[in-house]
Amino acid sequence: MTAEQAVPSAAGGAGEEELQERFDATIARDQRIEPRDWMPEGYRRTLIRQVAQHAHSEIIGMQPEGEWITRAPSLRRKAILFAKVQDEAGHGLYLYSAAETLGVDRADLTERLIEGRQKYSSIFNYPTLSFADVGVIGWFVDGAAICNQVPLCRSSYGPYARAMVRICKEESFHQRQGYEMLMTMMRGTEAQREMVQDAVNRWWWPSLMMFGPPDDNSPNSARSMAWKIKRHSNDELRQRFVDMTVPQAEKLGVTLPDPELRWNAERGRHDFGTPDWDELMRVIKGDGPCNAERIERRRAAHEDGAWVREAAVAHAAKQSGRAGSGAERGVAA
Ligand SMILES: [Fe+2]
Ligand SMILES: [Fe+2]
Repeated sequence: MTAEQAVPSAAGGAGEEELQERFDATIARDQRIEPRDWMPEGYRRTLIRQVAQHAHSEIIGMQPEGEWITRAPSLRRKAILFAKVQDEAGHGLYLYSAAETLGVDRADLTERLIEGRQKYSSIFNYPTLSFADVGVIGWFVDGAAICNQVPLCRSSYGPYARAMVRICKEESFHQRQGYEMLMTMMRGTEAQREMVQDAVNRWWWPSLMMFGPPDDNSPNSARSMAWKIKRHSNDELRQRFVDMTVPQAEKLGVTLPDPELRWNAERGRHDFGTPDWDELMRVIKGDGPCNAERIERRRAAHEDGAWVREAAVAHAAKQSGRAGSGAERGVAA
């Protein structure tokens, strides 16, 4: 199937205007749009972009932490990290499946990622310099993912919303394993506490950038919110993340590297400094510390896996040939 091939709609002969009205009414009633429903092209394209970027982020996101699997300091930490990185692969697969219900093909989306025509989250272009980074990624990055993704469980597109329900449960485990690991390190030696603080210093601002540019510079946001694909603005989600994380940092005994961070009793929320938006734009455009490395690794893995895909297709063809000719199943080739 080619990219964005039109999916047959259950239009039943209704005119475009009537279809649009039905779609708008479904959204207004907070009901779900399903793959067989008619949807405006803009809605479909926006979703394809968002779900594909999300899937790519899960898959690329395996790399920064995956690098530490062989260097985990104990069997327990290795088993936890292994499970976490495998979960991210699973998240990527659910999301590619959700994207396929919109009429795109996973192989084609992978090509677009490798060729740099589709993006993934900017956060995964930063290096993991110590094992404390694994804990801080769980705490910050999976914590930010939870802030972003819990509202997506109510997204207007059914397959995306349903994929999010299971993903969010697993993200909660990811966040906890990170925080628990940092708690352990903070109870350890002075050197371990310094490692944690150093990782916090490096990951804090990139984590705030994960929510995207500020609302007044986020042209697609309003549209996505009107379509109820997104439920909250970038700035609102960023604020929720800060409010959630500050008490956790206090409990842990680390300092968040923002001199402007303070409780605002009037707003009932925290005030905080401005992330370096120029840095975010540079990283999104491909000029972050690890962009080239991440894509190169993904390309190599994709090429290395070609024989598996070919074998799977050949096997499926053989099976369906057998089924067609009435041959017995389960006979070894
Ligand atoms: Fe994930
Ligand atoms: Fe995760």
